[in-house]
Order: sequence, then C-alpha cells, then structure tokens
Amino acid sequence: MNKVGIRLFLAAFAACLFSFSAIAEEGEELTGVTAKVVTTDDGRLTQEGSVLEDGKWILPDDSPTFSITKKPTYKVDWYTYNGYRRYHDACHVCHGPDAEGSTYAPRLADSLKTMSYDDFIAVVSGGREVKRPGGGISVMPAFGDNKNVMCYVDDLYVYLKARAVEALPRGKLSGRMREKKPEEARVYDKECYGE
Ligand code: HEC
Repeated sequence: MNKVGIRLFLAAFAACLFSFSAIAEEGEELTGVTAKVVTTDDGRLTQEGSVLEDGKWILPDDSPTFSITKKPTYKVDWYTYNGYRRYHDACHVCHGPDAEGSTYAPRLADSLKTMSYDDFIAVVSGGREVKRPGGGISVMPAFGDNKNVMCYVDDLYVYLKARAVEALPRGKLSGRMREKKPEEARVYDKECYGE
C-alpha cells in the first residue's frame, strides 16, 4: 500500500472505532450510579436490572447491589446486613453512625450517590490524604491489608448504596431483619481468610 492508501485505511479504521463507541454508548449498561431504585413484582426494593448470582444481587456492570423485602416482614439481604455491621465496626468512628458523616469525614450516604463501585474499592483499599485549608491533614486510612474490611468491601458498598439511594432508612438492623446467610457466603469467607 502507498502512503495515501495507508492514510485512507487508517481513516476508515478510525471511523469504524468511532461508530463502535457510539453504539456502545447507546446501549449503555446499568451501573450502580445509573440504575434506579425499583420495586420488583415480588415486592423487593432493589436497583433496576439486578439479578441473583451465587446468592448475591448483581447489576449488569457486575457491581453488587441490595435487595430489601418490606412485607410480610422487613428483611434486608445478607450482604446489606453484613455491610451494616462491618461499617459500624470499622468506619463509623470517622464517618458517623448510619453513614451520616461527621466534622472529620464525609457523609458516605452522599458520596455513594455518585461514586462508582471501582472508585469506592480504590479509596477503601488505597486510602487518601488531603491537606486542609488550615494546614491540617485529613486522612482516610488504607484498608488494603485488612481482611476484616477487604473481604467485605462488597458488603460495605451495598449497605452504603442502599443508604445513598434512600432504600434503607437510618437505624439499627437486628439479626431478625436479615435474610439467611447464603451458603456461597460461607464458602467465600473461608476462601477469603485463607482457611
Ligand atoms: C480515621 C478516620 C476514618 C476511618 C476509620 C474511615 N475513613 Fe473513610 N475517609 C476519612 C476521611 C477524613 C475522608 C476524606 C478524605 C478526603 O478529604 O478526601 C474519607 C473518605 C472516604 C471515602 C471517599 C468519600 C468521597 O466522597 O470521596 C470513602 C468511600 C470512604 N472514606 C470509605 C470508608 C470506609 C468504607 C471505611 C471503613 C472501612 C472508612 N472510610 C473508614 C476518614 C476515615
């Protein structure tokens, strides 16, 4: 091929790529940020497009989400409940009870309105330090080496997502207000802790 030929070929190739990305945008997948809260035919509050995979509710972009049944008894799925417990173990000292925020750390019930699943995992594992205008530093610790947090980072995300989209009100979740722990979660626990 001569030089002009190559150029023409490249231009056609670029046009092709462009139309591909345009198509991808049209049929865009539902993500944790874009999927609306819906009530399903069987009366569960969840995000649009979620399906049950290995005991966990998953969106088309592979991010996890919550499922909450209001009738006949109020029950949240296992992961939302576990996220609630883990949050009040490792995060609430800084981020406040029920993800409501504090003078020191942001209200995660707001952050999770717009934060992607991947960004959430990156911040929790890698932490963040920000200089404050007064000269102080605010520190989000890195939890990457903490199995009690990282093994349950999906659960934390799912709980905080439910708070952010107002599917879950403030307050205590008791053991009676949760679905049974799925068998898959038991197997996963052992694998994650390397037992
Ligand atoms: C020692 C206090 C402290 C603890 C404990 C803590 N955080 Fe943070 N976190 C912070 C601070 C401070 C920031 C804000 C950092 C900044 O200014 O960017 C933050 C930021 C974040 C952000 C980013 C929010 C945003 O709007 O950008 C996420 C997500 C987050 N924390 C999740 C968690 C989770 C989940 C836990 C528990 C596993 C946790 N944090 C525990 C102090 C803490």
